[in-house]
Amino acid sequence: MTRMKMLWSSVVLFTVIVAKVLAEREIDCKKPPVSVDPDFCCKTPIFFEDNLVLECEKSLGLNDTMMYTDLPDDVCVSECLMNKTGININGALNKNMLQLKLLEKISNGWWTTMIPQFIDYCVDAAEEQNDLQVINSTTTVKSTCKQNSLFIIDCIYLKLFGNCPEDIWKDNHRCRHLRDYIIKCTNLD
Ligand SMILES: *[C@@H]1O[C@H](CO)[C@@H](O)[C@H](O)[C@H]1NC(C)=O
Ligand SMILES: *[C@@H]1O[C@H](CO)[C@@H](O)[C@H](O)[C@H]1NC(C)=O
Ligand SMILES: *[C@@H]1O[C@H](CO)[C@@H](O)[C@H](O)[C@H]1NC(C)=O
Repeated sequence: MTRMKMLWSSVVLFTVIVAKVLAEREIDCKKPPVSVDPDFCCKTPIFFEDNLVLECEKSLGLNDTMMYTDLPDDVCVSECLMNKTGININGALNKNMLQLKLLEKISNGWWTTMIPQFIDYCVDAAEEQNDLQVINSTTTVKSTCKQNSLFIIDCIYLKLFGNCPEDIWKDNHRCRHLRDYIIKCTNLD
């Protein structure tokens, strides 16, 4: 399992936080499915290489436990990744760079055509999402980093996952349950 996939796993935590209470009866947004690895169901691209993630962890003084459990840590690692890849310039997100860098890592043609829409959606959603709320609701530790980098990365992964092309989708009960959960509980589709 790569480090990036650990970031991706924070999605499950994240979906709970942003969950709008719209779920159908059989899906409880407070109970994310934990028994299935999202990457098994749909192999999403790796946007940030392991060595870059490691570099960021080190620069932030984080112990490389391969476990991201603390939201503020995730928030800062994500901001660091966006800084280092030039997606954030002087602390501000550059949408063109974001698109450029993500497209470099996506080989699936269908996703490639969708990515500009996903970026528009997620950048807008990040602006609407008010910072403190999220940090507050999960932990008492205050982050010094802005949460929009993590929000946007997670949001784009959720969009990719929710729109997984049939040819790489593993269709089984657990994967369908995870997809239903993500789509319903994040209201991302
Ligand atoms: C990292 O964590 C391990 C296990 O908790 C600990 O033994 C080690 O000293 C830590 N290293 C640093 C640099 O904090
Ligand atoms: C990202 O860059 C901004 C602007 O230079 C800086 O204020 C911020 O601390 C950086 N974040 C991280 C996590 O390195
Ligand atoms: C965050 O938590 C503090 C302390 O519990 C509280 O005073 C504040 O209103 C909370 N802010 C939000 C946006 O929920």
